[in-house]
Amino acid sequence: MFVRTATTYDLSAMAGLHVAHLPIGFFPRLGTGFVARWQAAFLDSPHAIGLVAIKRSDDASAETVVGFLVGTTDRRAFRRELLRRHRGALIRHGLFALVARPRLLATFLRCRATTYAARLWRGRSGTPTAQPLEREEPTGELTAVAVDPGTRGAGVGLVEIYLDRCTSLGVSWVELVTATEPDSAVRFYEHTGWTWLHRSRTRDGVPVAHFGRCLATTDRA
Ligand SMILES: CC(C)(COP(=O)(O)OP(=O)(O)OC[C@H]1O[C@@H](n2cnc3c(N)ncnc32)[C@H](O)[C@@H]1OP(=O)(O)O)[C@@H](O)C(=O)NCCC(=O)NCCS
Repeated sequence: MFVRTATTYDLSAMAGLHVAHLPIGFFPRLGTGFVARWQAAFLDSPHAIGLVAIKRSDDASAETVVGFLVGTTDRRAFRRELLRRHRGALIRHGLFALVARPRLLATFLRCRATTYAARLWRGRSGTPTAQPLEREEPTGELTAVAVDPGTRGAGVGLVEIYLDRCTSLGVSWVELVTATEPDSAVRFYEHTGWTWLHRSRTRDGVPVAHFGRCLATTDRA
């Protein structure tokens, strides 16, 4: 098994893993087509990192994507770029996905349409619920990571490689949000040196934990 930078050829496998194993939030419910378009923005950005974990068949003739990670090295810059360069394509993909899913469309119109429309129209990213004020210096954000259940715990190391890349790019603080339900990744992050920041809920009411990690020697507590 090894980890490499993701390419556009990996997007459909990455989106499949995301929808299957990270079903929290609105995006995965829009399906793999939308998620792949959203993940493509990470592969295309100087402010983001996309990684895949690859397993080779015994005779080395075939490779399978068994995990992926997308994250940013400067989440503010990435959000600005996402809206500037990918807004139109994401709206188009999102609308197609919603039209094909009438029940989801009804939920969207009831709960999110106003917020999303205002955010996209203004070209600003908005601030997630209960998020503390942004730090002035660039903050990395581990946006999504998932490993195929059959490969978990085998030391794939996607998160460590993402953190190493952030460190080498001079990023000194990284955050993430993860669900707190049983079997969630909370124990993984506690075990691997992340610090609890606070708890909140998603717009759908799912309880989530916010974690942070200092990557520099300077004291930022
Ligand atoms: C979180 C996740 C990506 C971790 O990937 P992984 O490939 O299993 O992690 P690794 O094998 O690299 O594990 C690294 C270390 O964490 C430990 N670890 C892995 N899962 C753990 C868990 N659930 N609880 C405690 N420790 C855990 C490993 O034992 C290993 O420790 P070691 O280095 O001391 O041996 C994977 O469990 C997953 O896909 N979960 C479902 C999706 C998810 O919740 N993603 C997070 C959303 S932000």
